[in-house]
Amino acid sequence: MLPVGRAEYMRMSHATYVLSPWSAQSGLSMPSIERASGVYLYDTDGKRYLDLASGLVAVNLGHGHPAVVAAIAEQAGRLCYASPALFNPGRAQLAETLSAISPWHEGCRTFFTTNGAQANEDALKMARLITGRHKVLAAYRSFHGSTPGSGALSGENRRWPNEPSAMPNVVHFFAPNPYRSPFNTTDAATETTRALEHLQLVLEYENPESVAAIFIEPVVGSNGVIVYPQGYLAGMRALCDRYGILLVFDEVMTGFGRTGETFASITFGVNPDLITFAKGITSAYVPLGGVMVRESHAKYFDDHVLGAGHTYSGHPLAVAAGNAAIAAYRNDNLFTRAREIESWLREGLGALRDRLPMVGDARGIGAFFAIELVRDKATREPLVPWQGKSSAPLLAVLRRLRELGIYTYGRYNCVMVTPPLIITKAELDEGLEALGTALEESLVH
Ligand SMILES: Cc1ncc(COP(=O)(O)O)c(C=O)c1O
Repeated sequence: MLPVGRAEYMRMSHATYVLSPWSAQSGLSMPSIERASGVYLYDTDGKRYLDLASGLVAVNLGHGHPAVVAAIAEQAGRLCYASPALFNPGRAQLAETLSAISPWHEGCRTFFTTNGAQANEDALKMARLITGRHKVLAAYRSFHGSTPGSGALSGENRRWPNEPSAMPNVVHFFAPNPYRSPFNTTDAATETTRALEHLQLVLEYENPESVAAIFIEPVVGSNGVIVYPQGYLAGMRALCDRYGILLVFDEVMTGFGRTGETFASITFGVNPDLITFAKGITSAYVPLGGVMVRESHAKYFDDHVLGAGHTYSGHPLAVAAGNAAIAAYRNDNLFTRAREIESWLREGLGALRDRLPMVGDARGIGAFFAIELVRDKATREPLVPWQGKSSAPLLAVLRRLRELGIYTYGRYNCVMVTPPLIITKAELDEGLEALGTALEESLVH
């Protein structure tokens, strides 16, 4: 006999034996999720939670898509592993499909990894090999992963535990942030101009001829969903062209329908040289990431060794999930569904911003939104400082949301609203109403 109920025991067991990410471990208390279906998660008490975050902006198809689940099961019965140097039909099919849905007319070749961090590290290695240069630029207020190399690219405090950096020669720059401009303007066009002048200056001081690549999230993700003003990404592309620098879009969050197209580079009409991806490629059902290299650069590796490899590169279960997920995006018209969800989010979150004193900004694109919480709408003083010591008020909002049956996540003063691409208007309304209630009950005293 267990001294407590099963649900309580499973929570205690998790707290005792599992180390949780990005947290001091004592006092952690989270629902223990044991099944999921569509937009809903269910915990060991049988309580239901609307997944307003698609997990970590990853479960784009919703939970338990039957065709993807069946494909994984079918693959498991046939072949679970083949070493990555061997050819495999699933890998071939997925890479060919990625080439077809990529932004490049010339197509691309894909190097598979297990996650986004690894993809960024491999993209960096490839950029260095292709250009023969060593430096790399990335934006402040960006996240590219938490491993030593990808963490060195990340432009915020999740990099700090990696320091002194395992990867030298990474230089950070400021990118636009329309709500809190690092360039002292509220005008979008001025923001773009000043941000590009700043980038040019950083490049000049770093010697642009030593810079292999610029890494950028085409829309900033976990740092508060920041959509760059018109012209910024195109201006960055032009600077890269001028200096022979490779442009790498980290589409780990923005890929696979999140912004209303297969990739954000198509949404914004700006073609990078490499795209890193993970998450949505399998709707997160099996870990899979990778680097898509446009054909004109991939050719380099025809006569030069691609010095990278991982035991699980293109794992058969993962590529089976990827092939089935892409078929599902296509069959269910989900690559563009975020456009419809965008109109609901713009209206619903805009209404929260207009009604509630603590919602300073509501912003995003596609099914990729966040709200930014403030103490004072006029001064835009944040609810808690970004990267400050405490996220306590935000954690209170997230806790109250879970009590109300809604799961999402956030950082400091930003709450992510990034639902699965299958969400209905009624389900989203349920989430947004609870969000309003949680904000009022947790923050208005
Ligand atoms: C933009 C971006 N890049 C890279 C990563 C790292 O991906 P992973 O957690 O799969 O290593 C993340 C994770 O959230 C991300 O949001």
